[in-house]
Amino acid sequence: MVRKSWLLLLYWLCGSAGAVTPLQAPDPHSFANFKQVRSRHLVLDLAVDFTRQQLTGYVEHRLERLDPTVQRLILDTRHLKITAVTASRDGVHWQNTPYLLSIADRLKGQPLTIQLQPDTQAVRVYYQTTPQASGLQWLTADQTSEKKQPFLFSQSQPIHARSWLPLQDTPANRITYQAQVQTSPGLLAVMSADNSANTKRDGHYRFDMPQPVPSYLIALAVGDLHFKAMSADTGVYAEKIWLDKASVEFADTQKMMDAANRLFGQYPWKRYDLLVLPSSFPFGGMENPRLSFVTPTIITGDKSLISLVAHELAHSWSGNLVTNASWNDVWLNEGFTNYVENRIMQQVYGQNRADMELLLNVQALRERLKQLPPADTRLQPDFSGRDPDDAFHQVPYVKGQLLLTTLAQHFGQDKFDAFLQRYFAKFAFQSIDSATFVRFFSEELNQDQSFSAASLSQWLHQPGLTDEIQLPASDAFRRINASQQQWLRGETSLSLLATNHWSVHEWLHFIEQLPRQLSPQQLSELEMAFSLSQSSNAEIFTAWAKLVIPLNHQQIIQPLRQFLLSVGRQKFITPLYTELKANPQWRSWAAQVYREARPGYHPLAQQQLDRLGL
Ligand code: BES
Ligand code: ZN
Repeated sequence: MVRKSWLLLLYWLCGSAGAVTPLQAPDPHSFANFKQVRSRHLVLDLAVDFTRQQLTGYVEHRLERLDPTVQRLILDTRHLKITAVTASRDGVHWQNTPYLLSIADRLKGQPLTIQLQPDTQAVRVYYQTTPQASGLQWLTADQTSEKKQPFLFSQSQPIHARSWLPLQDTPANRITYQAQVQTSPGLLAVMSADNSANTKRDGHYRFDMPQPVPSYLIALAVGDLHFKAMSADTGVYAEKIWLDKASVEFADTQKMMDAANRLFGQYPWKRYDLLVLPSSFPFGGMENPRLSFVTPTIITGDKSLISLVAHELAHSWSGNLVTNASWNDVWLNEGFTNYVENRIMQQVYGQNRADMELLLNVQALRERLKQLPPADTRLQPDFSGRDPDDAFHQVPYVKGQLLLTTLAQHFGQDKFDAFLQRYFAKFAFQSIDSATFVRFFSEELNQDQSFSAASLSQWLHQPGLTDEIQLPASDAFRRINASQQQWLRGETSLSLLATNHWSVHEWLHFIEQLPRQLSPQQLSELEMAFSLSQSSNAEIFTAWAKLVIPLNHQQIIQPLRQFLLSVGRQKFITPLYTELKANPQWRSWAAQVYREARPGYHPLAQQQLDRLGL
């Protein structure tokens, strides 16, 4: 029986092999033939085994045929163990069906090809994850804040969902899902779905996501989590240690949501909760619908870094509601989100703070533009054949944001925000490309072509940044430049600078404006006056450490070691290790710290840092 089905499978693959690839590549980062047959609903049934660090179970795909002649369903997988595939024509009776797991592509993983009968309505794939899953981090109890229970979280964006469930892993398709997750009692599982605050903590959890989402927004976390409400529609999940601090830090989330509702249309996802992850989380935040995942490094006690919450909340419109159809258009997600984030910050915290945040973004963009090959400084680079993880940098985020800021200046802020509101309504629950945005823009806002086609085309297709951008002037930043100059010229001492009321943004600006060549004398003056090596704000600490590593500033060594051993956020640790590697005197010390810290880092961070070759 087994042998016969294998022969059939071979025959079926060879007989129509030509049809497997040529039709497609609507998404260069997926093998899925979603234009012929699409998965419209998932049923997940998973057991979470912390001893083996393994998810085991099945995923059921309910199918919609777009091409009636289609004979196979191709799913994306990476490092998964497939144990069986069954198919059903009625959703009740299931039969084994032939499948083939092909050899791995370096970027896309292994296509799983499943034979379909003309009346197949659904398939189930039984599988296990493996320790190589790039989209999962398994933490032992020791690696968590409370040190009592293990922790698991997923990170699917951009193409890591396929490492923990076989699916059509493309942002061009949207699915609803339901899930059943089993784990040890005492642990709580949460997903990017409807999490109920009063769930019984018995180890059996059920989820339902009735709104269609792209695959990269499917998310799961399991740990010793507790919930605290912040308002009727917002709350925090965290390990107990963080719960109170987090709910104070994020208390303005409801205000942010109210502001976004006014500007961009009613929040479409019911609740908005935040999940505080362990500090090994490789990002600042991830916009998983109804439940953004965030790093604890933004819990500083002074709300100085909560623009990150505004950012992840903003994705509820830009990204989660209107989605880039492929990772070549990532600016549609991240550039729009930076714009919306800044509008929320302006509404809730005022123009000055929003302006400082924009200027800090521009500063980071300018630094990045110096390092990138010109082709990668375009808003729409071609990422086929390249890892979409590398598509996320300041260009789509900040150049994208600046394009929208420029349009808002040209058409007027209110008119532009109203246009965006119509854009989000028009393309709600759709995945679109840049051309679709440009068409809508031409029809809805630029009918008289007052914004020239040449200018728009330069923004979208040319490398670099035009000189024409108008940036806000920040008095606070100007004052800092002036006093810094005075000190550098020896006209004043640091203790005379009025730093008492400087915000974190002002400190960041101060550090980033410092010359890269400071004398040992100047370094110790700075250290004496401000103790920057002791800063508990991860942004300030990193900005300072990046500056002083090349200068062999000894006082950074101990706190830096501590930082690298406890924080896994790539935005901080990658530049720090990069600077350390470039300093011949500190390089072997850094390699030693990395060896010690590596087991606690997320697989994605490990991969990125291994590439540095410390
Ligand atoms: N969607 C991103 C997180 C992400 C980035 C996932 C790259 C996969 C690849 C998220 O919305 C984000 O942009 N986070 C930023 C914070 C933001 C304030 C710029 C981050 O993690 O630093
Ligand atoms: Zn983002």
